[in-house]
Amino acid sequence: MFAGYSCARSARWTLRALLPLELLPSARSLHRTAPQRHENANEAATAQPACVTFFGHWPAAERATFLADMRVLERFVDEPEEQSLLAEIEPYLKRLRYEFDHWDDAIHGYRETERKHWYPANRAILDRVVAVAFDGAAMPYVHVLDLAEEGVIKPHVDSVRYCGNTIAGISLLSDSVMRLVRTNDEEQTNAEYRQIFSQERHNKYWADILLPRRSLYVMRHTARYKFTHEILPRKESLFRDALIHKTRRISIICRNDP
Ligand code: OGA
Ligand code: MN
Repeated sequence: MFAGYSCARSARWTLRALLPLELLPSARSLHRTAPQRHENANEAATAQPACVTFFGHWPAAERATFLADMRVLERFVDEPEEQSLLAEIEPYLKRLRYEFDHWDDAIHGYRETERKHWYPANRAILDRVVAVAFDGAAMPYVHVLDLAEEGVIKPHVDSVRYCGNTIAGISLLSDSVMRLVRTNDEEQTNAEYRQIFSQERHNKYWADILLPRRSLYVMRHTARYKFTHEILPRKESLFRDALIHKTRRISIICRNDP
């Protein structure tokens, strides 16, 4: 059973274009952009929502597109719903070991599974995700990713061969910070990625997104294809100069077909 599953996983989830973590500026050295003042409605549309901080030199039009394509819905599930989801997945997750061995993997310190059939109460929650984030068409398999307290998701773009234009995730158990860094092309190889990153470092721009416990994020189009995404390590989980207390985090992720 495990071998079969692990084949599916390597086909679907490990074909990620990786940007090495050490090439990214550390959280401490980041320049924080000043809060935006807006005099008219147009500028108000691109003002920073509470969960987003922009860094670097963003073209104004792209900021607006990005905000439409990367949304965070706070309190998407309530505490009883979080407990209900955990009650269904914990017994299964507990039988798996966290993977810490391969530093090259996009994710470090994790265990994961995919689930198609859910208890009716949890199915109802997932139906809400499908209604909010997808036009009724999400993949039947839902990805459950358990990231240990010391786990990290390194910068990557989800494989365009196995995942469509939308990724929606519920965060359980912990707040965390997701960083989205503008990249040039989702099809680049790792080597090309590194080169472009170092050559164009001066005009990089990125956003840090606070993902509160029990929120849902919906990442699509520009945010999904033109930006890498990553979950910062516990010690670098800064948001607006505050250290976000990241513990073990479980995400429940829906995707659509390419
Ligand atoms: C992934 C991923 C993000 C999350 O599994 O590809 O980026 O919210 N997960 O756990
Ligand atoms: Mn991903």
